[in-house]
Amino acid sequence: MTESTHPLGTVPQDELIARADADPLRPRFHFVSPAGWLNDPNGVSQWKGTYHLFYQYNPEGAFHHRIQWGHATSTDLVHWTDQPVALEPSAGPDADGCWSGVLVNDGGTPTLVYSGRLGEQELPCVAVGSADLLSWSKIPQNPVIAAPPAGVDITAYRDHCVWREGSIWRQLVGSGIRGRGGTAFLYESEDLRSWEYVGPLFIGDASQGDPADSDWTGTMWECVDLFRAREGSLGTVPPSGDAPDVLVFSAWDNGDTRHPLYWTGRYSENSFEPTGLHRLDYGGRFFYAPQSFQDESGRRIMFGWLQEGRSDAAMIEAGWSGVMSLPRVTTVADDGTLGFAPVPEIEKLRRDHVGLPGQELVGTGAPVATGVSGSQLDLELDVQLEPGAVLRLGLLGSADCGVSGKSKEETVIELCRTTEGDGQGTLRLDRTQSSLDPTVDVDDKSGPLPMPDGRVHLRVLVDRSAVEIFANGKPLTARVYPTLAGEHVSLTAEGTVRLLSFDAWTMAEIFGGARALFP
Ligand code: FRU
Repeated sequence: MTESTHPLGTVPQDELIARADADPLRPRFHFVSPAGWLNDPNGVSQWKGTYHLFYQYNPEGAFHHRIQWGHATSTDLVHWTDQPVALEPSAGPDADGCWSGVLVNDGGTPTLVYSGRLGEQELPCVAVGSADLLSWSKIPQNPVIAAPPAGVDITAYRDHCVWREGSIWRQLVGSGIRGRGGTAFLYESEDLRSWEYVGPLFIGDASQGDPADSDWTGTMWECVDLFRAREGSLGTVPPSGDAPDVLVFSAWDNGDTRHPLYWTGRYSENSFEPTGLHRLDYGGRFFYAPQSFQDESGRRIMFGWLQEGRSDAAMIEAGWSGVMSLPRVTTVADDGTLGFAPVPEIEKLRRDHVGLPGQELVGTGAPVATGVSGSQLDLELDVQLEPGAVLRLGLLGSADCGVSGKSKEETVIELCRTTEGDGQGTLRLDRTQSSLDPTVDVDDKSGPLPMPDGRVHLRVLVDRSAVEIFANGKPLTARVYPTLAGEHVSLTAEGTVRLLSFDAWTMAEIFGGARALFP
């Protein structure tokens, strides 16, 4: 039996799998690695009908070390089949890790562009795949770019966005310029192997705003992802004015993975002209390093990494770390910002249904029983709030209520409408009572929520420690670590809230049998 030799986690392989499987907090209908560590989605794509999800993987244990590319495939974006590891470090420019990257179709040859890590440095590398995308060969020319741009004092340099524009390949590499801000360096190539530096596509300004803010752009941009939203493709004249280009990045600062943001604007020739900066997910670092692709039906689908909110020691003890988000369809809302919803395919997993009749909740602050319970749930609500009203949806509430009569543990989603009555409000996730474990992250997460006429369509996917919320298309993703195995779902109103519809389903799990660390 092979044992991990890393000092952080000398755990035999079967023990690692057993620990991960036994953890009640491990999601059952989100993709997770067989055990060990998972971070960013990589090479997300659809190839001849099959969806491919690669990911940053450490099968040695639940810590970030000597990263490989795990690989899973799916025909429906719901059920995933583990495939052999696609890339692993080997002597050369990726000896210390195969970091994030993308998959492109090079005239029929599946090709990966990724960051090889050697020592403390990452450089762009390329690997070509077999026709079934199951075996990969690194090309002898690696690294394909020998060094970051000369004469620029950079904070870091890694991760890739690669696309075809006419007869030429273009690539962005995420970076940051010391003393200025995050950036993406633009390159060009005819063959994906020899690259010419064009210049920075666009440079952020880290001196703008407060570094503590949830929309601070950071000192480096990880995992840049540039795409045309709606019609047309990058570099073409948009068929109509309302097809913005979108530059997604994950704001990083000195080792801190802060949050995903995006600029809307126009990419043309060698630069990006921004029109607006937006938060991608109100959960911040809990939906990090997103990557998107256009599937064969034309949908833009995005995955992100749901980081953990528990300590390094607790992760190692659990034997696993990191959850992949459900795939999200990305659309452009009327106000020009992005809207998100889980792919409809997820509804296949719905099992037992509970519905509540439409009703008016006139708030006294006392919880209304919903008759719904579970830790793997899909909830869908349509509500209308009067000005000043608040609706609280309690999840994972413990049965053990203590003297106060309130659940000792409960995770609460709050919708709040402002008193002015202009259809503005707030979406908030209150995790302060979500766990009796004092060591887990319970920071408040919230963001503005436009609610025309007080109306909100709320979709909530609860999967043990993973919670994904979509309110009028605005996502808020986070992790929670209840200790009491609570399953209660409650509704509480303050002021007048009309419950127009309420549907809840339990959700089936996606992995049936045993999984192997090295499929
Ligand atoms: C983002 C990131 C990337 C890097 C990878 C390493 O979470 O830090 O910038 O390529 O993870 O695993």
